[in-house]
Amino acid sequence: MKALEGVKILDFTHVQSGPTCTQLLAWFGADVIKVERPGVGDATRQQLVDVPGADSLYFTMLNHNKRSIELNSKNETGKEVLTRLIETCDVMVENFAPGALDRMGFTWERIQEINPKMILASVKGFGPGNYEDCKVYENVAQCAGGAASTTGFRDGPPLVTGAQIGDSGTGLHLALGIVTALYQAQRSGQGQKVLAPMQDGVINLCRVKLRDQQRLKAGPLKEYSQYGEGIEFGEATPRAGNDSGGGQPGRILKCKGWEDDPNAYTYFITQAAVWEKICDLIGEPEWKTKEGYATPPERLDKLNEIFTRIEDWTKTKTKFEVMDICNPLGIPVGPILSTKEIIEDDGLRKTGTIVEVDHPKRGKYVSVGCPIKLSGSPVEVTRSPLLGEHTVEILREVLGYDGEALAKVVESGAVGDVNKQAAE
Ligand SMILES: CC(C)(COP(=O)(O)OP(=O)(O)OC[C@H]1O[C@@H](n2cnc3c(N)ncnc32)[C@H](O)[C@@H]1OP(=O)(O)O)[C@@H](O)C(=O)NCCC(=O)NCCS
Repeated sequence: MKALEGVKILDFTHVQSGPTCTQLLAWFGADVIKVERPGVGDATRQQLVDVPGADSLYFTMLNHNKRSIELNSKNETGKEVLTRLIETCDVMVENFAPGALDRMGFTWERIQEINPKMILASVKGFGPGNYEDCKVYENVAQCAGGAASTTGFRDGPPLVTGAQIGDSGTGLHLALGIVTALYQAQRSGQGQKVLAPMQDGVINLCRVKLRDQQRLKAGPLKEYSQYGEGIEFGEATPRAGNDSGGGQPGRILKCKGWEDDPNAYTYFITQAAVWEKICDLIGEPEWKTKEGYATPPERLDKLNEIFTRIEDWTKTKTKFEVMDICNPLGIPVGPILSTKEIIEDDGLRKTGTIVEVDHPKRGKYVSVGCPIKLSGSPVEVTRSPLLGEHTVEILREVLGYDGEALAKVVESGAVGDVNKQAAE
């Protein structure tokens, strides 16, 4: 049995934030019915196309284990079908631009009228307030959520990060909101609205940076490199480059081959507990007891010197050799893995975090599987649906349309060309 078996999700999501959420719910066993505009579908099907005529990786990697129904929710028959879907499903997930659902005629009041137990889960760019009507994409959320102003180097511009904390991060927040609301509904019998604004999700992930903002009142942030460099702090949490926290300073350091390989680097943490081992390793045994080096607070104004010395050592080893030597000593290090190395990693394939999926139009492709492992609810990643692949199946099996009623819906044009899939 799967954890969310029996839960039906009306998946009205598109692009990245919403689809990451519903994909997780599908992996945990929910029946996720993706509602897509006839003939068009989720815009990402046709974005960043690498195999002409096939759904893009952008789409396939975000929509595994779902079923697809084509449905025009602005057409009268389409609205009828959508109403039946709302009656039947437990959760409706959407990430349209603000007001789009209302414009379709499906306000929260109307949804509750149709199904009082419905959980309506939404991603929006911003919560209620000045910006609530704005459309938002990933990098806007990273900027408005405090990530960009605290990422990068002090003497450079703000930077966005490659991890999609605005989109996929908010999808994760929304998924937690949904399962929590489902749990509450089991006892209350009532649905509710779940809202995950992207700005709020990024702020949540930037919690430690807001911690540092308040610590500024008490003096300089001593674990930041700029403290040791004698550079004054301003009014807001600065960009910290690759520094890591307080008693356990860390840096990204060059490894053997860095001149040619952009990822020949390691992260190296001078954890206080293993300071003596680090000193021996890099050939500075006297630092173990020397005044100014022996304790973590003393070292904070010497981080540049210390890490330069450690880097002299790491530059003589590959990033994997650094890992092999440091791990047995309990020194926390991590190779900077390229996307190529991650995709080829045997260990990640064994755990199902990297999977190979077969697709009728694009053949085999690599994807990221479920990153959360439930021992009692194993995940088998199946391919994303073709546009409208399950239209008739859903009309029949989920909504009970048959015979003349089914023919009427098909002929109305509300569900696209149902013969197209059969012919393919
Ligand atoms: C992502 C975003 C900027 C895209 O904007 P967009 O391409 O203009 O798409 P919208 O969400 O506005 O939807 C476009 C229209 O398609 C319509 N539509 C979508 N599915 C439909 C369907 N099955 N049948 C009929 N119409 C449909 C919508 O009703 C909307 O019409 P309207 O403008 O008349 O109200 C916007 O959806 C958004 O801000 N979403 C919330 C935040 C978010 O999730 N951002 C990250 C995305 S990764």
